[in-house]
Amino acid sequence: MAGSGNSISGFIPFDIFQKQVNEEYYSRKGRALYSDFYTLVQKCEKIAVANSMEFHYRLVSAKSKGALPKEIHVHEYGIGNGQFAFNFLNSMKYLDEIEKTDFYSRIIYTLGDTSQKLLDQAKNSKFGKAHSAHLHFQLLDAGAALPFKSNSVHYIKTNEMYDDLPSKILVRSETNGKLMEVFVKLGKGKTPLEKNYSEAKISSLPFAREAASLMSQIPEGYEVPINFGAAKNFQEINRILSRDNFSLMQFYDYGFLDLSEISATPKPFWNEFLAREYGGQYTMDVNFPFLSLAAKSLGFKFSAESISDYLARVFGQKFVQVDELLLSSSQLPKFSKKLLSKGFTQDFLKGQIFEEEPYFHATVSR
Ligand SMILES: C[S@@+](CC[C@H](N)C(=O)[O-])C[C@H]1O[C@@H](n2cnc3c(N)ncnc32)[C@H](O)[C@@H]1O
Repeated sequence: MAGSGNSISGFIPFDIFQKQVNEEYYSRKGRALYSDFYTLVQKCEKIAVANSMEFHYRLVSAKSKGALPKEIHVHEYGIGNGQFAFNFLNSMKYLDEIEKTDFYSRIIYTLGDTSQKLLDQAKNSKFGKAHSAHLHFQLLDAGAALPFKSNSVHYIKTNEMYDDLPSKILVRSETNGKLMEVFVKLGKGKTPLEKNYSEAKISSLPFAREAASLMSQIPEGYEVPINFGAAKNFQEINRILSRDNFSLMQFYDYGFLDLSEISATPKPFWNEFLAREYGGQYTMDVNFPFLSLAAKSLGFKFSAESISDYLARVFGQKFVQVDELLLSSSQLPKFSKKLLSKGFTQDFLKGQIFEEEPYFHATVSR
């Protein structure tokens, strides 16, 4: 993402660094990425099942109003090995059977990614073949203009991709309060990124006014991710999302829901753990308050909640994230040995203490 005209010898803006490093990483790794980290949608099909139940409900409502389209266009960006997509499609098929509906047969599911390797691997996988009549694979950059027609998509989803799209890191100077941008370069060996600072020039970027207004509320010296890549994706979603009552976009990601979390964290700790590296790929926390401002400025409704609140809303039952698992309280005893070995307490096993990971679900709709 362009934006800063400044340069500092040897350092580049974090968003440019992130784009370069991550594109190379995903193109090279393909689905071997899961040896560097896990994602919850890979490990737990509950999230895809929840998506399908919500979307199915919306389609039933559209049908009752005579508004069901002949073709139902679903898009997913940042697909990994495609499991999130395939679990959704399996579940839509199942819901059709038990609810006597005919939605699966209408679905055209576009899987979009910057990595041709991941697209090919998903296409050639067992489930890719099983659902092949419904799948379309598209090489794309979700942080740029999308190759789709306006007003043409009914459901867009993405998991843990917004944290990969280029983000700037902004900070108000502790010396004079000016808005500065963080530039980075790789440290030697295993040392963290080295940082440098230059006056921020963001006026040409999407939602620059919202970013500046948000930064004015942040105490000096706190470095804050501004996910301009994700915000650009919102602009495109606004263009391609069908203008009706049932279409929606949903995303899941790690980050923070409230600006108060920033100043509640000691400054050095906050600044150090903002960008995280997994096997050479760089993930940046998603700033949900910024994306909420961006969505609202496009006229969207925006809501965000913890993953456990989301699942409780859909399934009527609370689940807790325990590393790569999503467990209900009745499942906790079954995993007690594993949980105790990982340092979880007896109180946790009795369902008395639930610590949440900062992993959230958000819905964007008209
Ligand atoms: C952390 S992985 C998540 C994969 C999958 N959604 C999951 O949850 O298991 C990030 C995914 O986003 C893709 N990605 C990263 N940057 C992208 C971009 N600019 N446009 C489209 N896809 C991107 C990667 O290739 C990868 O498939």
